[in-house]
Amino acid sequence: MTRVRAFGPGRVNLIGEHTDYNEGLCLPFAIDRGITVTASDGPQGRAEVVAHDLGERDAFDLAAPAPATGWRAFARGIAAELGPPLRGAVLEVSGTLPQGAGLSSSAALEVALALALLGHSGREEPDRRELARLCSRVENEWVGAQTGLLDQLASLFGAQDGAIRIDMRDLAITPVPLELGDWRLVTVDSGVQHELAAGSGYDERRAECERACELLGIPALRDVREEDVARLPEPLDRRARHVLEEDARVDAAVGALERRDLAELGALLDASHASLRDLYDASVPEVERTVERMKAGGAAGARMMGGGFGGSVLALLPPGATVPDDAVPVAPGPPARLL
Ligand code: GLA
Repeated sequence: MTRVRAFGPGRVNLIGEHTDYNEGLCLPFAIDRGITVTASDGPQGRAEVVAHDLGERDAFDLAAPAPATGWRAFARGIAAELGPPLRGAVLEVSGTLPQGAGLSSSAALEVALALALLGHSGREEPDRRELARLCSRVENEWVGAQTGLLDQLASLFGAQDGAIRIDMRDLAITPVPLELGDWRLVTVDSGVQHELAAGSGYDERRAECERACELLGIPALRDVREEDVARLPEPLDRRARHVLEEDARVDAAVGALERRDLAELGALLDASHASLRDLYDASVPEVERTVERMKAGGAAGARMMGGGFGGSVLALLPPGATVPDDAVPVAPGPPARLL
């Protein structure tokens, strides 16, 4: 009997939001909460999937998984993208990550499924950047969410004690110290589940960014310059300005962390939030109320995190600030792995 367990962590993105699909910069860290997939021997050529948290099951042919909707799309897509040889398996999924809360439960699930299926089949893990791309294809083509690579890279490359700066153009990954001392990072659910699928605000923003690039004749908004912004019609000018300034804020945040200037990091989180709200139009009233509540409670910075249009708020609390009852403390944890 072969039995393997794989863990895919969720992630917090400190700053650098809606920059990944624009080939810009991000500063995430893998967290100590995530999804665990246990693979044990199953009927030959078949996968049976048990989603413990949902109380639901699925079964499919490993050689030719048929598309499905909802959570069932993940294991089918991962098996199809990994391709043969895969041993028949029972895949048990359980997790400690709320769905749709901006902590990237989807990427955590993809990564854990991939590592579990590979490990159970006795196959070598591929290069982790390739694995991130594979998981991202599953999300784009099987699940139907046109998300970028941020979440998968954060889950696969998280550093035990720090954040990572990712350059989404060449996928260069640089460790960044995250020494918080008595400061704390927490996430607070706004209560609105965000939606990244076709027809969502997320999809609309992606299309707007592509349109801005077409008009400017540049490959990605990573290349946008100050003088280009004024040439774009509304609202594309505001979308481009967000990306231009958010990239700069990522490097300012790296500098602040290197100097251990956490007050400055807080100011950058606030600036990122204002930009996502006013230039990117990615906030909703419940997120605004959550950010205002965190700031009123003494947060040095608070911002919406992830795809936006709902989900979680990230707040940086100075020493002595009260942690609200509904806040989840988040700390960096190790990257995805076999347990
Ligand atoms: C979601 C997506 C990521 C990224 C963020 C916004 O989390 O999955 O690819 O685009 O939104 O920064």
